Amino acid sequence: MDEDRIAERVCALAGQISADYAEIDDLLLVGVLKGAFIFLADLTRQLTVAHRVDFIALSSYNRGAESAGAVRLIMDTRASVTGHNVLIVEDILDTGYTLDYLLRTFEARRPASLRTCVLLSKPERRKIVVPVDYLGFEIPDKWVVGYGLDYADQYRTLPYIAALKREVYER
Ligand code: IMP
Ligand code: MG
Repeated sequence: MDEDRIAERVCALAGQISADYAEIDDLLLVGVLKGAFIFLADLTRQLTVAHRVDFIALSSYNRGAESAGAVRLIMDTRASVTGHNVLIVEDILDTGYTLDYLLRTFEARRPASLRTCVLLSKPERRKIVVPVDYLGFEIPDKWVVGYGLDYADQYRTLPYIAALKREVYER
């Protein structure tokens, strides 16, 4: 997936979000580190509504593509979520466990509203149903890197998104 195609889609998502939150003045974007940092940076600069940006970090897959199963919050937002309109920005939806965990964690804090924006989704991999309000692309079941996404913390800064060869992550 090349840069132009990504930029075009991010622009469309920003347009949708800007329209939906036009009447709201306390939108809080919460990016999930590290994978969402580039997507969030591009998205936030395309929004035409006033908003704030915050981050959380979660424990990720152990080293490569194998899921550790459990999700753990390792860094929380600085801003309070309670009473605010929160949009979680995530890089990719795989099994769905991470986003499900986040939604439950944030819901318990009573935000005014809570939605999700995800750049990529691998529907074949889903283990649990999670609502996505804004989706960039559906992709096949392959490990992808670039545009913030990594494999063992590598390849994040590639400007495009590419699938790794299976030999690399199925060793
Ligand atoms: P889930 O909990 O299985 O939905 O996994 C979500 C997390 O796994 C994402 O936030 C990513 O950090 C990571 N992940 C899943 N698939 C990929 C991929 O293809 N490339 C890079 N990271 C991925
Ligand atoms: Mg992620």
